[in-house]
Amino acid sequence: MRDQFYVIGQPIGHSMSPTMHNEWFHENQIHGHYDAKEVGISDLESIVTEFRSTAKGFNVTAPLKVEVMKYLDEVDPLAKEIGAVNTVINKDGRLYGKNTDGIGYCRGLSLVLKSPIEQENILIIGAGGAARAILCSLLHLGVKHITITNRTTEKALELKNGLRLKEQDVKVISITDAEERLGTYSLVIQTTSVGMKPNEAAKPMSLHNLSPDTVVSDLIYSPYKTAFLKEAEQKNAKIQNGLPMFIYQGAIAFQEWTGIFPNTINAYKLLEEKLG
Ligand code: ATR
Repeated sequence: MRDQFYVIGQPIGHSMSPTMHNEWFHENQIHGHYDAKEVGISDLESIVTEFRSTAKGFNVTAPLKVEVMKYLDEVDPLAKEIGAVNTVINKDGRLYGKNTDGIGYCRGLSLVLKSPIEQENILIIGAGGAARAILCSLLHLGVKHITITNRTTEKALELKNGLRLKEQDVKVISITDAEERLGTYSLVIQTTSVGMKPNEAAKPMSLHNLSPDTVVSDLIYSPYKTAFLKEAEQKNAKIQNGLPMFIYQGAIAFQEWTGIFPNTINAYKLLEEKLG
């Protein structure tokens, strides 16, 4: 019998995860199959109970990443700190939760960064769940210079104050201050939902003072290039959309389930063809 895997969330119809994981099963000659299943909060507990005996693993997406934690047997420390799980591994009926989003994001960055990530001076725009996953993962990797800016400064302060910081330096500044100091950052990470609607012209902040030496990354990959990324590109900065993060979070999950790290280059080509 083949091993069964899922992604659950709501809405789930446009998820690219089944295409990507099924291609990886095929490439690696693994007898597995991955499906998307529409699941809302009210059905979550019964689905997770069912998966204990029917699924080898599953991914979890919005709006279930926080809620799912209470139905699992164990959650790893980084996922606990992030406060959300996107990957579940079924070990003989025991469900183990991890979060591969932030680490996946950081692995994807290696495609555009010239120096090791620990040496970057980073500006994160946003203070929601995605920002938290990336911030915790950057701290976990030992990044020392991080600044957060957000429309609502109090939320950025709450995010910072909720973390156990060692010698790392996390600053919180207003959007206006971030706009002014933009030229001092080597990497800008856009984590808000601004730009997600098709043809949306809004940007979370002005890029007037952007230097061409700064790498600008946006977690959104549909639309493929947000207005924010287009402006950064016009200013000759190196840009990256959210596709590498999506692929690497999936690749790390695939490795957790099968022991094999899959081919991310082929996945990139496959998904770029569909989305680009
Ligand atoms: P996610 O889990 O995807 O990060 P979230 O937790 O709802 O989603 O967080 C959304 C982020 O996008 C927040 O940083 C939010 O800013 P506020 O804290 O001020 O609400 C930001 N955001 C959403 N809509 C925005 C808008 N129109 N302009 C600026 N920031 C926006």
